Amino acid sequence: MNIIEFKGITKKFGDFIANDKIDLTIKKGEIHCLLGENGAGKTTLMNNLFGLYNPEEGEIFLREKPCKIDNPHKAIELGLGMIHQHFMLIDRLTTTENIIVGEEPLKNGLVDMKKAREQVKQISDNYHLAVKTNEKIENISVGEQQRVEILKVLYRKAEILIFDEPTAVLTPQEVNNLFTTLRELKAGGKTIIFITHKLEETMNISDRVTVLRKGKVIGTVNTCDTSPKELARMMVGREVLLNVNKEKSDVGDNVLEVKDISLTGKHKNLLLKNINISIRKGEIVGIAGVSGNGQLELEECIAGLRKVTSGKIILDSEDITHAPTGIRRKRGLSHIPSDRLKRGLVPSYSLAKNIILGNQDSFTKNGFLLQNDINKYCKEVLEKFDVRCQSMNDTANNLSGGNQQKLVIGRELSTDPKFILAAQPTRGVDVGAIEFIHNNILEMRKQNKAILLISAELEELLSLADRILVIYEGEIVSKKNNYTKEELGLLMAGKKVPEEEKKELENRIQND
Ligand SMILES: Nc1ncnc2c1ncn2[C@@H]1O[C@H](COP(=O)(O)OP(=O)(O)O)[C@@H](O)[C@H]1O
Ligand SMILES: [Mg+2]
Repeated sequence: MNIIEFKGITKKFGDFIANDKIDLTIKKGEIHCLLGENGAGKTTLMNNLFGLYNPEEGEIFLREKPCKIDNPHKAIELGLGMIHQHFMLIDRLTTTENIIVGEEPLKNGLVDMKKAREQVKQISDNYHLAVKTNEKIENISVGEQQRVEILKVLYRKAEILIFDEPTAVLTPQEVNNLFTTLRELKAGGKTIIFITHKLEETMNISDRVTVLRKGKVIGTVNTCDTSPKELARMMVGREVLLNVNKEKSDVGDNVLEVKDISLTGKHKNLLLKNINISIRKGEIVGIAGVSGNGQLELEECIAGLRKVTSGKIILDSEDITHAPTGIRRKRGLSHIPSDRLKRGLVPSYSLAKNIILGNQDSFTKNGFLLQNDINKYCKEVLEKFDVRCQSMNDTANNLSGGNQQKLVIGRELSTDPKFILAAQPTRGVDVGAIEFIHNNILEMRKQNKAILLISAELEELLSLADRILVIYEGEIVSKKNNYTKEELGLLMAGKKVPEEEKKELENRIQND
């Protein structure tokens, strides 16, 4: 049975068409991926279904009957549940209170918390959704918060569950657990719509895939009949290189030297221990590590956002250990921050303002902003870095994640830097944008810039970096030119690679 059918759904924001005559069918009991780049219209389409938006044109059929869903309450009554990208939980309430809010079981006119907890426990056991039933939201991990959101939807007896990019906030281990839950939900007869821009996930979890691009349906395919390459082509609209093409570069003099830096935390704990890194012109040095092992602190120390406890940082032969961020920039440091929303952008500023952020001096004369120069420069950056927007006067928070990241990268790479500190440069962005960002980083290497690439993506490090250092508990535990993925994985987890295995790995590298 077709449990949902979209027929000619069009949703506009002003003149902008976010969903363009969408036809889409979801079968009962399937896991259906909605795949598309950032900004393709995936969330908008689901918001139409969930009654958050009213489409201008088209019809939605639910269980083969035309249906007007004009608010989320109605959607929930009809058996729909949505797990939003940004959770909608109340921090101060417990997990159980959040799950039952508005639907509390009553006993003598009072909320029957015992019964509520039992009901939650039962659903959570059924679907492997472990939550502490009596803990406040503010005290639990993001992964557990997501499980609360799922429980909330199931408690309301949803038959159709919509997940909007659920893995973006999860660790690889939590992703596996979520996938187990999804398979159990499917086995229990539920229908699942899974929004993502990740090819691997789509291949792994779905029965069918519908690809959206620029508000239009490009096609629906059976997962078993397709490949990542085909899906990437449908998503981006052209052939996409899933692997990077790296040329040799001539490495030159040292540009950045991190000399024996250490950092002590609030409780006298060592966050960074005697770190030494040197990066030459035309070289990409990678930092691999499981998040939380000092890479953020290292990034902040080099960027000048945090003071080192001891050691020195030298940029182009000048000691910048104690220099403020502005001076570091003037000396040729560019920084693509790991947290683009906190450090990279001012979301409420226009794109133009964001582009000249930190570089205002170059566009000021006698205290006045040179508006024509700014416009010209911003137009160039937006074009060159393929930031999809309506105008440079849009605010940054109206851009999709991938476009925000291209904006930050455009700003940082357009100032002719000597050294680029690139932290998680492709976090949360889609395939087309990843390819674009990788090519731009390689272009910088070709132009003889020195680059430090801090990344949680092993594939990214292995394909871009000339050398990789592994960081574990604030310490560089290994540095080499060549690693296998397995070897990196072990070292990142703080495990020494046993001697025999090491030999075997080395043989394998030589034979590759
Ligand atoms: N409330 C809104 N007002 C104006 N434009 C919006 C709004 N919501 C989304 N858009 C625009 O519609 C397009 C599709 O957005 P969205 O559905 O969020 O994409 P996706 O979920 O595929 O990343 C984007 O270009 C986005 O900027
Ligand atoms: Mg979205």
